Amino acid sequence: MSRAKKTALIAGATGVVGRNLVQHLDSREDWQVIALSRRTPDIEGLEQHISVDLLDPADCDKQLGGLNKVTHIFYAAYVERPGWHEMVEPNLRMLVNLVDAVEPVANGLQHINLMQGTKWYGNHLGPFKTPAKETDPPHMPPNFYYDQQRFIVKRQKDKTWTWSAARPHGVSGFAIGNPMNLVMVVAVYASISKALGLPLRHPGSRANAHALYQVTDSGLLARACTWMATEDKCANEPFNITNGDIFRWENLWPIFADYFEMKTAPAQKINLTRMMADKAPVWEAVARQYGLRKIPYTDLVRWEYGDFVFTPEYDIISSMTKARQFGFTEVIDSQDMFLRQFDELREHKIIP
Ligand SMILES: NC(=O)c1ccc[n+]([C@@H]2O[C@H](COP(=O)([O-])OP(=O)(O)OC[C@H]3O[C@@H](n4cnc5c(N)ncnc54)[C@H](OP(=O)(O)O)[C@@H]3O)[C@@H](O)[C@H]2O)c1
Repeated sequence: MSRAKKTALIAGATGVVGRNLVQHLDSREDWQVIALSRRTPDIEGLEQHISVDLLDPADCDKQLGGLNKVTHIFYAAYVERPGWHEMVEPNLRMLVNLVDAVEPVANGLQHINLMQGTKWYGNHLGPFKTPAKETDPPHMPPNFYYDQQRFIVKRQKDKTWTWSAARPHGVSGFAIGNPMNLVMVVAVYASISKALGLPLRHPGSRANAHALYQVTDSGLLARACTWMATEDKCANEPFNITNGDIFRWENLWPIFADYFEMKTAPAQKINLTRMMADKAPVWEAVARQYGLRKIPYTDLVRWEYGDFVFTPEYDIISSMTKARQFGFTEVIDSQDMFLRQFDELREHKIIP
């Protein structure tokens, strides 16, 4: 692929995934970045952001129809709906609207990278085959990733551009106001437990604490997406992308307790959505005491996401063999990742 300066159009720029991709590519000499989202991302030095509603085809045409210099599209926009079947239509529509507006005018388009996840394999449905491989057959739909990939595969036929897809799990990284962010779930839960004088307990069952789990650092994910979007071998291929290690939550809580200077106690399953619903005043008192940035409690953490992580009593493991064989060899120790990200959140006055 060409070594000339590339132009990345990144959809989902305020999300935990997209924000870190924007920061990564924006820091590189050989990339120009155009960030897309409705809200403006809080990223220092970002030169080009377009506020667009991807659900609105007229807005997409108006705002994006002139982006003829785009060489790479990174698609990390996402809309949540209560039911999995209800997610298909809007998530497909946003991708279609973007591609319909940009692809016909971007004559130098080289690549479209899709953001998927381990839900491709049905980890949200119950126990599934592990380690999950990219060649595993799909589960019973609906699954909006399938619809999005089908659309891109069809659209790519007879075109010079190629596509790829990343399948991360439990993305964790620095992002403000993005509730689907694992490090925030852990850090805010620990800080509230401490403020209430409680020991740090795993909030899932003992079986959940013991099951094998995996996560993806948002910086590693950004580097992996850049790699697959620019490496010829990766054309038209999906890749699992995780830190490359696996862990059991039961072994991490004592480390987290040390970090937050707390005692530990055995796991106790709670419904975080219900139990944390009335904890805004506790958090606000913590924020005042430590002079933290004012972020509304509801924007800090989506506790439903915490319940999603701390409920399964089965292993969640994706095989990283394919990415390694194709040349992406970066690994991150997940325990180190959490501790580094806690430090980063502290430095930015997000957590005590
Ligand atoms: N977070 C994880 O742990 C994780 C794990 C595996 C896979 N994934 C996948 O990664 C993808 C991105 O997830 P995420 O966690 O980064 O999501 P997120 O934090 O909720 O971000 C979603 C992004 O989409 C944008 N967006 C939503 N509706 C939009 C609209 N109508 N027009 C324009 N932009 C819109 C949002 O921006 P505005 O609201 O500012 O418009 C935001 O930038 C999803 O496919 C998700 O399934 C995430």
